[in-house]
Amino acid sequence: MKMNIWKKACFALLATVAIPVWAQHVHISTDKTSLVLEAAEGETLTFAYYGDKISDSEIGNMLVAGTPKKDAYPAYGMQCIAETALSAVHVDGNMTLQLVVSGVRSTTEPNGAKVTSIVLKDKVYPFTVNVNYRTYPNKEIIETWTEISHQEKGVVKLTQFASGYLPLRVGDVWVSHLYGSWANEARVDEEPLQHGMLVIKNKDGARNTHTSHPEVMISLDGKPQENTGRVIGAALCYSGNYKLRFDTGDEDYHWFFAGINEENSEYHLQKGETFVTPVLALTYSKEGLGGVSRNFHRWAREYKLAHGNKLRKILLNSWEGVYFNINEAGMDQMMADISSMGGELFVMDDGWFGDKYPRKNDSSSLGDWVVDTNKLPHGIKGLLQSAKKHGIRFGIWIEPEMANTVSELYEKHPEYIIKPTNREPNLGRGGTQVVLDLSNPKVQDLVFQVVDTLMTNYPEIDYIKWDANAPIMNHGSQYLTKDNQSHLYIEYHRGLEKVLKRIRAKYPDVTIQDCASGGGRANYGLLPYFDEFWVSDDTDALQRVYMQWGTSYFFPAIAMASHISAAPNHQTFRTIPIKYRIDVAMSGRLGIEIQPKNMTEDEKTLVKNAVAEYKQIRDIVQFGDQYRLLNPNEKKGAASMMFVSEDKTRSVFYWWKTETFCDQHLPRVTMNGLDPQKQYKVHELNRIDNRPLTYEGKVFSGDFLMNNGLEMPLSHDVNYDKRNDYASRVLYLEEVK
Ligand code: GLA
Repeated sequence: MKMNIWKKACFALLATVAIPVWAQHVHISTDKTSLVLEAAEGETLTFAYYGDKISDSEIGNMLVAGTPKKDAYPAYGMQCIAETALSAVHVDGNMTLQLVVSGVRSTTEPNGAKVTSIVLKDKVYPFTVNVNYRTYPNKEIIETWTEISHQEKGVVKLTQFASGYLPLRVGDVWVSHLYGSWANEARVDEEPLQHGMLVIKNKDGARNTHTSHPEVMISLDGKPQENTGRVIGAALCYSGNYKLRFDTGDEDYHWFFAGINEENSEYHLQKGETFVTPVLALTYSKEGLGGVSRNFHRWAREYKLAHGNKLRKILLNSWEGVYFNINEAGMDQMMADISSMGGELFVMDDGWFGDKYPRKNDSSSLGDWVVDTNKLPHGIKGLLQSAKKHGIRFGIWIEPEMANTVSELYEKHPEYIIKPTNREPNLGRGGTQVVLDLSNPKVQDLVFQVVDTLMTNYPEIDYIKWDANAPIMNHGSQYLTKDNQSHLYIEYHRGLEKVLKRIRAKYPDVTIQDCASGGGRANYGLLPYFDEFWVSDDTDALQRVYMQWGTSYFFPAIAMASHISAAPNHQTFRTIPIKYRIDVAMSGRLGIEIQPKNMTEDEKTLVKNAVAEYKQIRDIVQFGDQYRLLNPNEKKGAASMMFVSEDKTRSVFYWWKTETFCDQHLPRVTMNGLDPQKQYKVHELNRIDNRPLTYEGKVFSGDFLMNNGLEMPLSHDVNYDKRNDYASRVLYLEEVK
């Protein structure tokens, strides 16, 4: 980070005495972007600029060229008609804030990141807000968040507390954001900003990305383009209820706010306590949506994802193969099968636990994290031995934030669950699921112990799938005082983060998957503690093309668990050939979610081959730069994207047909991200055709591939009895000198 504060002295005449007035400009920058604030002492902190990098010498001109001239962190009370980021009720009932700059600080964090803090103080009340900016220079990311505190004699009520705010010059500004539902997560919506308010929000309580997401792309130059145009990306790094607001009135700017959803969450701030808002990460690119995605991906891999620089193992997960029907012989068979197909890890999903109440289905046992010895007489130890015998690693499913009312935990500790006083709770999955009250430190200990006990007893466990299958349906904490019931949502996520921090401090190496009824928790609040997330409970390969496309707007492929599953698919009942299922799964963190016993020999051979081929390209998918080429949402009959290694010497290209007609004419896809000067040899992976492609083994320049691309045959050249209505291709490109 580079921060320049230049001071310009001017003079104002007051009576006959000249008094210097200091105008300070804070320039926060990354390698290619700048954010400029006007921070004159005793004055309102105003927002001047965010976008392409400008030099220090250009700042003066930039300021006279015209700026939003708006508070950088607008607070309620003295400009009531505007939307605000912050509102508070002082101890004496006064509902106004008037914040002015009292200083600028720069600090370096232990990992070397630079943080600039502008200290704002109320003109009358002892109320302070630090507006913070952290920069990741070569990732083009600027994080902003605030710290709110006071020294009033009593409790100040915070009624709004956004993390950050950004003015956007009115023009043809569009917003791209994700929407969805269970089994249809991360679909893309794009819309122009018009008058009124666009609100993107979540109120699930526990999970926050099944429906909309706390990340957006803001295209400043008209309808969103993949490779061109100025785009701002914003990601609220938070796991709880959020609210993103775009307000457009009669001014020259749209006002964008992002933060915790304050609804039903009034916060009572004690004297001396500091309320820290979640980080809002901003990035900017002139390379369209793709440029912003690549910025997020690079930043995530280095800073926001556990082990973002380590290759992921290829795994078999037991869920769709056996559901709750776990038993020792079955697990051993699945381990033998994944091992024989070249896999490296087996994950035993739901159904392995419960003593007094064995987990036969989803209506009991959550909370009782002891092995069901009827199903697994030799316990986890026996399973670990099996894994060792088959030369693979072992992983296990847990859902530690939850209980069922049919469980020993609930019998012993009914006070641990979230429920309102004087009312019976509404129950979730299986008719009995409840959420544990993570605002309670005893519950935090309990959740920590679920992992700690497993890992202490079985340190060989390599992978944990951490699930969360219920929202907070009833507002009520049995732990929080009656005055602080409105803290529940916030304290839940503080509690969760505390537990995750403890787990990571003690078990830094274990791989942990972030799952919440599928993709309910794909957010940058939690990902620093997790290695990956389950994109969706929907494993239908065609629908995954759309969901993984949307997910890739903000999240890198290394974090996207993507599994080959059965046909007909268990969610859509669509029958998709194994080749296509493989080709889609191979564009993320490859896994398998199928009963291998039910696979044909042909299918097994293809999967085995795909696993071997994936191992050769895994580093490109997991660490490379992603270029989206043909958008499935544009309904052109196909979708395509590619990954390119950082040094541009290797690449993997994906193409999937999304619909089939006779006399179909699909666009010829041009590639992207290659070095135009380099020569690349083309080799098809997962080939099923009787004859190789006409360009198999041929060498093309990056320039040719990016300007002309290669024709994709509309169907596969296979024997008549193997024909079907799907087609897909995976090409490996390698530089030849
Ligand atoms: C959730 C997960 C699934 C599976 C089940 C087990 O739905 O998303 O992958 O683990 O729970 O009950």
